[in-house]
Amino acid sequence: MVDYSAPNVAKEMHVGHLRTTVVGDSIVRTLEKLGHTVIRQNHIGDWGTPFGMLIEHLLEVGEESAEADLLRTDPNAFYQAARAKFDTAEQESSRGAGLEGSDFASRARRRVATLQSGDPESLRIWTNLVELSKQYFHRIYDMLDVTLTDEHLAGESSYNGQLEAVCADLETDGIAKISDGALCVFPAGFIGRDEEPLPLIIRKSDGGYGYATTDLAAIRHRVDTLGADRIAYVVGAAQELHFQMVFASTREAGWLPETVEAQHVKIGSVLGEDGKILRTRSGSSLRLMALLEEAVATARSVIDELRPDLPEAEREQIAHDIGIGGVKYADLSTAHDSDYTFDLDRMLALTGNTAPYLQYAVARIRSIGRKAAAQGITAAAAPRVENDAERALALALLEFGPTLTAVGADYEPHRLCAYLFSLAQAFTSFYEASPILKESDEELRAGRLALAELTERVLVEGLDALGVNAPQQM
Ligand code: ARG
Repeated sequence: MVDYSAPNVAKEMHVGHLRTTVVGDSIVRTLEKLGHTVIRQNHIGDWGTPFGMLIEHLLEVGEESAEADLLRTDPNAFYQAARAKFDTAEQESSRGAGLEGSDFASRARRRVATLQSGDPESLRIWTNLVELSKQYFHRIYDMLDVTLTDEHLAGESSYNGQLEAVCADLETDGIAKISDGALCVFPAGFIGRDEEPLPLIIRKSDGGYGYATTDLAAIRHRVDTLGADRIAYVVGAAQELHFQMVFASTREAGWLPETVEAQHVKIGSVLGEDGKILRTRSGSSLRLMALLEEAVATARSVIDELRPDLPEAEREQIAHDIGIGGVKYADLSTAHDSDYTFDLDRMLALTGNTAPYLQYAVARIRSIGRKAAAQGITAAAAPRVENDAERALALALLEFGPTLTAVGADYEPHRLCAYLFSLAQAFTSFYEASPILKESDEELRAGRLALAELTERVLVEGLDALGVNAPQQM
């Protein structure tokens, strides 16, 4: 079971979610190629206190208004407008008599309560908010060629019905106890700065449940109902302590038996050129869609210039594959827990450990294949290994299986990237030492062509495990 992507409703999918999405999808694709049955879970943030303010804002602007439509196109703008209204109202009421008023902030707070108590009208508007956000997520997933669909959505709200039982069961079993009015688990080995045992709060003193409670319920569901025997959480590194405590608590409760492996695949940050977390100048997080569109547009201008001979539709597809592939590959080729700097020029460069370099290697072999076919040359059934460069390439090809296995075992797509890069380099050395179409010895030529075709297959298969397309021509 792989928990990945997990953006939040009515908030922009920021570049942080780009990484959890891209790395998670590559892990899923790799595990499937290795023959595992993989369950994808998109644990979207679709519940909690912000929904009071979001619902009230949606009611004020009108559910059919242009502002409401922002939820599908620029959800962050919608969120920030609601947030600004809330903050202003709160400042004003704190200056006033402090009475529970009819201002926006008070209404938002009341709305959370009515939503949580199951008020049908609040639920209807909430459903609408979630629906519009899903459309936004899926536009991004389509753009990214990510395999997530609606059926993989299992948002925080889907565990609402289980939270009471989670608390009751843990309390009955003596795993959780009341501390300062809140129900907490104190998993062994977690000590706070004050040298006191660190609590995982599962029911606040006001009776509310939080993020941790939902994750405990999710583990129980994933093990008992979904039958997971291996669970990976592809989530930001900042949540490390949260997951360690959730895993330790559910181990103590017996909900996560020792036979089930659970791992937090820690995701580092995407940085801007200033070395800080990537943001726009105004300080808000950068629009992911705008970033992706820019990558595709840049690739498009290059391909338009280099290959004006290709039909319009093909250039469009190639630009998509290079632009999106370049962004995804730059992300995947960095160790998932390291930070990296978002640099479009480097991502789209034709040299170095980049998607375009590998895509070009594939396109080049395919072009050799097309020329061979036109000349009636067919590949031998098995490659010929005579000189050093051929031997080096053949040995590199044999490393594909073990590399994929290691990537699936340790959740490390960057090792697949490093492998594919060195394979493409081995191909270049081979091709310099052992010409194919110019070779007059028929058997040698057919044996080398076989080696080239095997290289193409491994490169394409490897890129597919990363979720990167390989165009026919470039
Ligand atoms: N929505 C959360 C965030 O944006 C990530 C959820 C990760 N998955 C989980 N089971 N907690 O930070």
